[in-house]
Amino acid sequence: MKTRMLICVLLTAGVVQVLQAQDFRRQADSVLRLMTLEEKIGQLTQYSNDKKQTGPEIPNPGRVEEIRRGRVGSMLNVVTPERARQYQEEAMKSRLRIPLLFGLDVVHGMRTIFPIPLGEAASFDLDLMRRTAAAAAAEASAHGIHWTFAPMVDISRDARWGRVMEGAGEDTWYGCCVTEARVKGFQGDGYADKRTVLACAKHFAAYGAALAGRDYAETDVSPRTLHEVYLPPFRTAVDAGVATFMHGFNDLNGEPVAASRYLQTELLREQWGFPGFVVSDWGSVEQLVPHRYVHDKKEAAEKALLAGCDMDMCSGAYIRHLEQLVKEGRVSETAIDKAVQRILIKKFELGLFDDPFCYNRRTAELNDEQTLASYRTLAREAGAKSMVLLKNENNTLPLPVTIRRIALVGPLARSQRDMIGNWSAEGRPEETVTIEAGLRTALPTAEITCMEGYDLETNELRELLPLGDFDMIIAVVGERAMESGEAKSKTDITLDQRQQQLVQQLKERSGKPVAVLLMGGRPQVFSGMEPYADAILVTWWPGSEAGNAVADVLTGRYNPSGKLPMTFPRRTGQCPIYYNTKSTGRPYKPNAAWTTGYIDEEPLPAYPFGYGLSYTTFEIGIPRVSKQQYSMTDTVSVRTTVRNTGNRTGKETVQLYLQDVVSSLTRPVRELCGFRQIELRPGEQQEVVFSLTARDLGFRDADGKLIVEPGEFRLFTGPDSAHLQAASFELTE
Ligand code: NOJ
Repeated sequence: MKTRMLICVLLTAGVVQVLQAQDFRRQADSVLRLMTLEEKIGQLTQYSNDKKQTGPEIPNPGRVEEIRRGRVGSMLNVVTPERARQYQEEAMKSRLRIPLLFGLDVVHGMRTIFPIPLGEAASFDLDLMRRTAAAAAAEASAHGIHWTFAPMVDISRDARWGRVMEGAGEDTWYGCCVTEARVKGFQGDGYADKRTVLACAKHFAAYGAALAGRDYAETDVSPRTLHEVYLPPFRTAVDAGVATFMHGFNDLNGEPVAASRYLQTELLREQWGFPGFVVSDWGSVEQLVPHRYVHDKKEAAEKALLAGCDMDMCSGAYIRHLEQLVKEGRVSETAIDKAVQRILIKKFELGLFDDPFCYNRRTAELNDEQTLASYRTLAREAGAKSMVLLKNENNTLPLPVTIRRIALVGPLARSQRDMIGNWSAEGRPEETVTIEAGLRTALPTAEITCMEGYDLETNELRELLPLGDFDMIIAVVGERAMESGEAKSKTDITLDQRQQQLVQQLKERSGKPVAVLLMGGRPQVFSGMEPYADAILVTWWPGSEAGNAVADVLTGRYNPSGKLPMTFPRRTGQCPIYYNTKSTGRPYKPNAAWTTGYIDEEPLPAYPFGYGLSYTTFEIGIPRVSKQQYSMTDTVSVRTTVRNTGNRTGKETVQLYLQDVVSSLTRPVRELCGFRQIELRPGEQQEVVFSLTARDLGFRDADGKLIVEPGEFRLFTGPDSAHLQAASFELTE
């Protein structure tokens, strides 16, 4: 009875959705019929506000006039509600009064900044990621923003690439989970309450596979790897109802993705059924010229539009050339109509035609203390949950309650700007809690002495005070915020040698426990300082509540539970490095000749994917399956136990990996296929159950088709990708 009722409710909801969609489409068509060709092309055009540029500056003093003439459909980087209102008022002077759509990179918060996405991914807490995306959407929409250019769902296996900070890390399966959480967080259940924004899955596709980790460089990815590694999160975004897509800057297998009809039309729309619109990246349409794929900007406009890119961000190629291209018969007006229709539908869905200023009507919230406080509480929770404890010799952390004298060393301890990381929208450095401030609040009776240690700009070492009298040294080292993000690739991801020397000096001169806070937006190499650090906590860029979140973890108010979403290599030369590689005919054996590896380093990570310690310890049991043989229609249920063997309450992320033992196309050594976060009191034990269907055991071929083959499978359970126990079963026809 209950099931029948549920089916009825779902069916009714489905029917309502279809009817609503038809309605928006009808409304869009009714506007479309009134539009001139010039006005239509205007809808496909997006410019940036001059006050904030997130790409090479493109001067466009005439943009207000263009808006009034109906030659602009969307603006990006308009960050104040007042400015948004002014632009919208101009749009209301245009002949058809079609409202503008305001887009912005709200990547990890608007004014309240949450941890960088890679950091947040380390929390392995999907509900948290949904909640922070929802809060970011609520805050951004109160600023008049309708649309965020997030989430970035690019899989990235190479820490040299600066944009790893914006994504969920190296694993495709986990990347899909995070994509769904973030899309649902940003978009909520729709736009009725105006607290949600359109999300944008970017950068379609394989942008994260940039050659040698160099941003904007070519990508060469076999069709099978494309389908298996890079495309799934985009597919998940479509299934989660993402409103828009952004294509990438990259050349993929000989074709810039901006001009890829295969990606933007055949796969995305025809195969996956994506109903939303595609925006270009900043200037990527005109960049088809320097790619040497077209002769000029006009041909670029033709290629990009016909490939399926609906909106031209910042290159002005559409507005300059599409009308002429229609006249010459090179682009049909029908193709333009389709693109316009897709954009207008979103404007109707947002309610902009009913009230173009509807998103500006929540400005009172911007300074509402209670609202702001709720975002800050969430930022603090997210900050703490994102941190990953890599080392903790002799229980150096948490700080003992008896601690009296602490030396806090490193300029990042006092930096506000760095704590909010790159892509920090309207985050306000002056509202950010420094590490020093957070620690002073958390430890009011301790004596905390700050020392610069090294120069923030030049990394030159600074004189240290005598260290003998301190109970503990906390060293804050790492990258600066603007060392990761777009166009921030590195040839060497090693932590600055002088900062590493500083840690060594701190240990040698004090003889006291040294806890290192390692900040940054990517995996880093730090073998020089590693032996001198008693504890290492990766904090990433924790956001507006940085200091409080760090203090929560250092004092044990929050017992760290983060796990690495990317492998930390021993040396940069190992990049790209990731846990789910293929097997080789000559597997690695230490000290053996003719096996895979390097002559100057072991081919192993410094810290593997999924790794992270707690202040307590856990024991995870072997995986248990209920039978040895399963058929294609069965559900494989896998059980294991997890027990807290230490003396503090803590959270463990129990991970499940899979290996297809022999297959017609080779499969990775293991692949993450499940995880559960379990909180346990000391001595407490819990059974964990995972369910897998035949689909979960399959893989993609070069056309993206799912193949499930019978045969032996191995399952592994453990606390990370390298410390696992195995069981096996057989899948029969
Ligand atoms: C370029 C970046 O690649 C993209 O991610 C971003 O959304 C746009 N600029 C707009 O700022």
